[in-house]
Amino acid sequence: MSHTLNPLRRQRLQRSELAVPASNPTMIEKAAESDADYVFLDLEDAVAPPEKEGARKNAVAALNDIDWAAKGKTVSVRINGLDTHYMYRDVVDVMEQAGDRVHTLLVPKVGVPADLYMVEAMVNQIDQGRGLETRVGLEALIETALGMANVEPIAQFGGRLEALHFGVADFAASMHARTVNIGGLNPDYPGDQWHAAIARMVTACRAYGLRAIDGPFGDFSDPDGYKDGARRAAALGCEGKWAIHPSQVALANEVFSPPEAEVTKARHIIEELRKAEAEGRGAASLDGKMIDAASERMADNVIAVADAIAAKG
Ligand code: GLV
Ligand code: MG
Repeated sequence: MSHTLNPLRRQRLQRSELAVPASNPTMIEKAAESDADYVFLDLEDAVAPPEKEGARKNAVAALNDIDWAAKGKTVSVRINGLDTHYMYRDVVDVMEQAGDRVHTLLVPKVGVPADLYMVEAMVNQIDQGRGLETRVGLEALIETALGMANVEPIAQFGGRLEALHFGVADFAASMHARTVNIGGLNPDYPGDQWHAAIARMVTACRAYGLRAIDGPFGDFSDPDGYKDGARRAAALGCEGKWAIHPSQVALANEVFSPPEAEVTKARHIIEELRKAEAEGRGAASLDGKMIDAASERMADNVIAVADAIAAKG
């Protein structure tokens, strides 16, 4: 084990992350009543330019009028990218008018760590100006070739950063990948064409204590395709996935919740290892398979998620 350890910077249950265009107050109200762990109010790509200002006002109102935490949810706002003139006003209005209500800001198309530096500096200044010390976190969308090329320095940013998300749609565009599907398998490619990118992002996340979240799956009439994608992401270490349609929330919650049998097995692993330890042995066996201290670390991950789900009630 290295002397350098980067434990998870901030634990939050994020199995399902429902994307809601902030231009649509009815959808915001429905999202507040949904079973999503996380809701992000979108000011970016789901909102057309003429609606940007109205969406910003709706987001501020929804943050102030709805008690998201009491509804067991984390609420985030996806601001516009740093390449647009909407971005500074998004940060100023949301932080000045609802900085004590919003939990995180999701920054799209992060390409270099300095993108986060700018947002962090603005958030800190607004906090100081208002005499507040909010714990508003930052989350970064990795969805450009530049962002993926710099994913390690981005993951090392520190500060308020707590999660990276894989934005498959913009990433496909940025890579000039031959597809117009959002997520899912491509019949022209043997295997999952996003495997390497997701694995690369998850490695950077886990090295530097960030949550790793998989992005959208566009075909909301294909629940099996969604679940397959979510399972592949979970197998690589993602702890949740976006829902671009309310019907995808239950699918994400199902895939990213460890089944009862898995939790029971994790607890047995720990019990067996405790017994072995008392007898002076480091390794043991369970159901005919060798288990050791690494098994305990895997089991701890399962139990931590199960506990977080139980705490949500
Ligand atoms: C999300 O923003 C994506 O581009 O997939
Ligand atoms: Mg995008």
